[in-house]
This record gives sequence, structure tokens and C-alpha cells, in this order.
Amino acid sequence: MKYISIKEAMKKGSGKVAIRGWVYRERGSKKVKFLVIRDAEEIIQCVIKKEKFDDKKFEEADRIRVECSMKLLGTIKADKRAPTGFEIDVDEFEVVGWCDNYPISKDQSAEFLLDKRHLWLRSRKMNTILRIRSTYVNAREEFFKKKNFYKFDPPILQPSQCEGGSTLFEVKYYKDKTYLSQSWQLYAEAAVHSLERVYDTAPTFRAEKMKTSRHLSEFWMVEAEAAWMDLKDITEFAKEEIRYCLKEVLKHHEEDLKFLGQDVKKLKKIAEKPWPTLKYREVLRILKEKSNMDVPFGKDLRTGEEDEVMKYFDTPIVVTHYPKAIMAFYKPRDPEHPDEALCFDMLAPEGYGELIGGSQRSMDVEQMTEDLKKMGEDPSNYEWYFDLRKYGGVPHSGYGVGLERVIAWICHIDNIKDAIPFPRTMLRWKP
Ligand code: 4AD
Ligand code: MG
Repeated sequence: MKYISIKEAMKKGSGKVAIRGWVYRERGSKKVKFLVIRDAEEIIQCVIKKEKFDDKKFEEADRIRVECSMKLLGTIKADKRAPTGFEIDVDEFEVVGWCDNYPISKDQSAEFLLDKRHLWLRSRKMNTILRIRSTYVNAREEFFKKKNFYKFDPPILQPSQCEGGSTLFEVKYYKDKTYLSQSWQLYAEAAVHSLERVYDTAPTFRAEKMKTSRHLSEFWMVEAEAAWMDLKDITEFAKEEIRYCLKEVLKHHEEDLKFLGQDVKKLKKIAEKPWPTLKYREVLRILKEKSNMDVPFGKDLRTGEEDEVMKYFDTPIVVTHYPKAIMAFYKPRDPEHPDEALCFDMLAPEGYGELIGGSQRSMDVEQMTEDLKKMGEDPSNYEWYFDLRKYGGVPHSGYGVGLERVIAWICHIDNIKDAIPFPRTMLRWKP
């Protein structure tokens, strides 16, 4: 008989089925063994009755423990008492891989589960998050395809910084040294002078000396860059991307989101409502007027300020025009307000923090040279980047989405570490 998934078996609903998977729960008596079997998407209760097997075979059933892998054949029928509403009355079974003393049981610490991450991936929680992440990533591919963007594969080893030298991971490179990518934005800017519209999701590395629930040392950033777009175009485009992917997740994962404790109704409302755009100066005003918080112009918005202002919004918001003085070298001055930069961040509701950072790109080589010098960078390392302005440069804009931040928000998980299969942070880089 052909093996089918548990989902397909439940869809069939009656008759003979053959499934395979792992033991999720087991209990038994002298006469019957109850197994809950899981596969990639579902779980189902299976019953092995002693009366159907000889003593030796039933004794084998008795030795089955959690996480044994198995093949089973039997008759499926609806049963209200079973965990997912169906039950298989087993006619034949085979243990494929035995499992004794599975190290993970209830109530283990987060650290222990991270040590055993290679096994914890099998948990329903991680399985559900990873399936949602996969849907999200596929949706994002569809979105960019619809928008006629080209997928562009950037270098991961890069000779210089993009987002500040202090968080670079240095890599020995033959007799020289290079760095792991903090962002492939500078290469995206080269690409748009050929392809006009590019995107990719690439591994991103930051030696963040942060022990927060929002920071990873290795994460995946979805970066997009487009020629001819200005700040307004790019912020609206970024909102459209996140909204599109959110809707796709909602379309396919309502039950999964509920399982993770997410309020699906609320998320659906968010997907429909407009997401406001406001200036950094307006954020300062809100903080002052509503929260009596004095944040001087020129101070970056950190977790505290971001969380405070998000108390007044129930959708993501876009904040533009941060102070130029504290922004990356490639963010241009607003010609009308030279102390502000033509840049934006998207902030998530409920304390999930910054989802996106982006900007229009500076065309002013002199300003960028000055800014790089102030950072202690050698501008001669950026000659190739300045060539993009020298030889037929056009206005362009782009942004980067922190994939794990978005997944953490959509899945309602408290630590970003659970938004990625094998998290790397300042304190953890194994297994
Ligand atoms: O705001 P960032 O630093 O922007 C850039 O790197 C730009 N060069 C992107 C561009 O314009 N092409 O990072 C973008 C996003 C952040 O908004 C955040 O969501 C995520 O990347 N991010 C992190 N996610 C997890 N752990 C970290 N340590 C992160 N640092 C940034
Ligand atoms: Mg940022």
C-alpha cells in the first residue's frame, strides 16, 4: 500500500490507510496500546489491540516509546475522543527506528532545549513555527515575482562594513582578512544600475553584544533595492510586502497561529487596516505629550522608546526622517530639513521592535566621504561604491526586513531564537 500523509489520511476519513511517522505520545495496558503518531503536518491516534496480534508482536508494541519511528497500516475512522478527531485501528505495524529514553520531556528549561535543539526541532511548537516561516518565505518570493523584481545573489564575504564596523565578524581569508556580510545593500545598489529592481534573502551576520530577545548574531535579511524610487515609494512598497506575506500566512495557518497562542482575529484586522507613516519628530512629540518622556532630537530610538510609542498603535508603523547625525553614511540628508535623513524604520506592535530599516540612498559623494571619515573608515575602500554615483547614477532606494523579527511577531513568540532553527547569539553557537 502507498504511504500517505496523516493529513491525507484524515481527508480520506475511512477505509484502509498506510502512514509513517514518529511516536508523539504513547500509553498502554495489557490489552491495548494507544499511540499518537506525528508526521510533518499532523498528529493522529493509532490503536494497537492485543487481540489482533500474536504475543511476540504485541510485546513489541509494548516496548514502543516516544520518538520511535514507525510505519502503520490500518483502518481510519472519525472518533470525537481522539486528539485530532480521527483514529486508526492498526492491522500491521513496523518500528523503523527504536528510541529509548528520549532526553526531552515536559518542563525542561529553555537552555536545555537549546542544547538539544537538534531534537527540539521535532516539537509541535518548532514544527509549527518552521512551517509558517516556510510559507512566509514562499509568499515573499511570489510577491517579488509579481512586482517584476530580479532575484540577485549577493556576496557573503565582503571587504568592508555597511552598518558600522563594531559588529563585523572578521574572517581569515588566505593571507588576508575579510568580513561576513552585515547587509548586501551596497551590492544591491550596484545591481540596480543594471537590473533596476532586485531582492534576495541572505544570511546576515552581526557581532551584536546584545543579550535581548530581539537580537541574533546570524539572521536572514530580505533586502530589496529599486532604481527610480524615492523614500515615499519605498516605504509604501515595504508595507505592501509585509502585508502581502502576512495575508498569505493567515490564509494557510489559522489553526497553527491559534496553537501558538496568537490572536488570529486581531492579526486579520491588522492585515486590513492602514499602517501609518510618521516622522521621527512626531514620535518625539507623542512620547512627550502622551508618555511624558523627554527624548531630545538626535537620540536614536531604542527598545524603550520604541515600545513606549507602540503603546499608541495597534498596527505596524513606519517612522521616517531620523536625525542624519546618527544614521548610516549612505542615508541622504533631506534637502528641506538638513538635520534629518531620508530614511525609515518599520516598527511592529506589541514590543516586537524594528522589523525593517531602509532609506533613499545618498548621491552625495562628498557627504558620504565625510561621514565615513567620521566613523574612522578609509573612504578609499568605497571607491567602487562611489563609481555608482560617478557613472550614470540614478536615484534609488531600498530596505532590509529582519525575517526572524517578522516571524516572531506573526507567530507571537517571546524570543527571536525560536524564529530560526539553530540560533546563534553572543552566548550560543552550538549545536
Ligand atoms: O536596520 P538594519 O541594520 O538595515 C540594514 O542593514 C540596511 N542595510 C538594509 C537595507 O537598507 N538594505 O537591518 C535591517 C533589519 C532590521 O530592521 C531588523 O529587523 C533586522 O534587520 N536586524 C536583526 N534581526 C535580528 N538580529 C539582529 N541582530 C538584527 N539586526 C538587524
Ligand atoms: Mg535599523
